Amino acid sequence: MKEIVLLGSTGSIGTNTLDIVDRFPDEFRVVGLTAGSNDEKLEEQIRRFRPSLVAMADPAAAARLRDRCRDLTVKILSGPEGVAEVARVPGPALAISAIVGAAGLLPTLSAIRTGKHVALANKEPMVMAGQLMREEAQARGVRILPVDSEHSAIFQSLEGHRREDVRKIVLTASGGPLWEMSPADMQDVKPERALKHPNWKMGAKITIDSATLMNKGLEVIEARWLFDIPASQIEVLVHRESIIHSLVEYSDRSIIAQLGLPDMRTPISYAMKYPERLVLDLPSLDLADIGKLTFHRPDHDRFPCLRLGYDSLAAGGTMPATLNAANEVAVEAFLNGGIRFGEIAEIIRATMESHTRRELECLENALEADRWAREKALSLVTALAR
Ligand SMILES: NC(=O)c1ccc[n+]([C@@H]2O[C@H](COP(=O)([O-])OP(=O)(O)OC[C@H]3O[C@@H](n4cnc5c(N)ncnc54)[C@H](OP(=O)(O)O)[C@@H]3O)[C@@H](O)[C@H]2O)c1
Repeated sequence: MKEIVLLGSTGSIGTNTLDIVDRFPDEFRVVGLTAGSNDEKLEEQIRRFRPSLVAMADPAAAARLRDRCRDLTVKILSGPEGVAEVARVPGPALAISAIVGAAGLLPTLSAIRTGKHVALANKEPMVMAGQLMREEAQARGVRILPVDSEHSAIFQSLEGHRREDVRKIVLTASGGPLWEMSPADMQDVKPERALKHPNWKMGAKITIDSATLMNKGLEVIEARWLFDIPASQIEVLVHRESIIHSLVEYSDRSIIAQLGLPDMRTPISYAMKYPERLVLDLPSLDLADIGKLTFHRPDHDRFPCLRLGYDSLAAGGTMPATLNAANEVAVEAFLNGGIRFGEIAEIIRATMESHTRRELECLENALEADRWAREKALSLVTALAR
């Protein structure tokens, strides 16, 4: 029986993870859960999975949860420090990192620092401080197991092969909800339309990142640090069907890929049970049914965010943290109706252009760049909203 803490249990990855726990009650036991502000859903999860410790980032939501759970013995913490405390709880061997955005950085690091292996969905911390997270994990002998379907595919395609034989990795991208839309229509697309992803049901932030292709920019940076591979060896290929989850090309031009129907429970369960596989009662991929698979090069003019991702990686130091923070602010502003879709990339670019890059010597450098970029991006949002 593997004990787990699940950071971000009420989200899309969080609920898919609990679906796996539900299917395999003899394999996993939930010790800790955390959420942001959805106390109603967290209460349901507490009653179902009986963790001993939970936390909510929003103190008002934590107070409501305490009220709801008066009849239970669960300990309820609040605020970002409470979330990090759940990540630090002694005992569990595995933390599933499924918080969205930079808010997951300190809890994920807390889990690593207390010797837990991490199943990582929350890509933003790797973007902000991938090198530091890698070093922390190495120093403590813990694994960072990818949950992102593309990175899980790369991880699986690398297993059993010599790293020096890798020529490049190719991350596939669905192209997102707006791939077929004309550039003019894209500029003014409404959030409801941009949230309609053709293949994946995910949280709002990553769905907008998928629409701008920033999700792929973030994934390139995540791959850089997860697999210790330079950006020059990471390519992106648009594959609308999301069947091939990513590929590795070797020196002899052999390509190894991982395929499957788009269902996050497959990569989540792989990270949870690694190196074994669970028997998942899910529909099988039938390639004859699918018939054909299509591929396109990414269109950097229509989707400038992907290029910004590569640019930030080339600049290095605090630039990826700056990109990430500006993106979080711009996406939130778009979702709230404050800016147009086309302005997301402009805000990120302008924030990066005014950033004085520093080396990433310690975590504080990344956190400081994050704070600075949020302020800068917010001032740009305010100016555009006028
Ligand atoms: N969804 C996918 O299929 C998918 C695939 C690959 C990678 N990912 C990555 O996985 C991460 C989670 O994505 P998601 O789609 O599951 O997001 P989501 O549905 O929006 O869920 C986010 C989770 O984080 C919690 N949260 C939000 N703000 C928080 C804060 N300030 N402090 C602590 N917790 C907070 C939320 O709690 P509340 O519900 O209470 O707000 C929720 O539990 C993202 O980094 C995403 O890029 C997701």
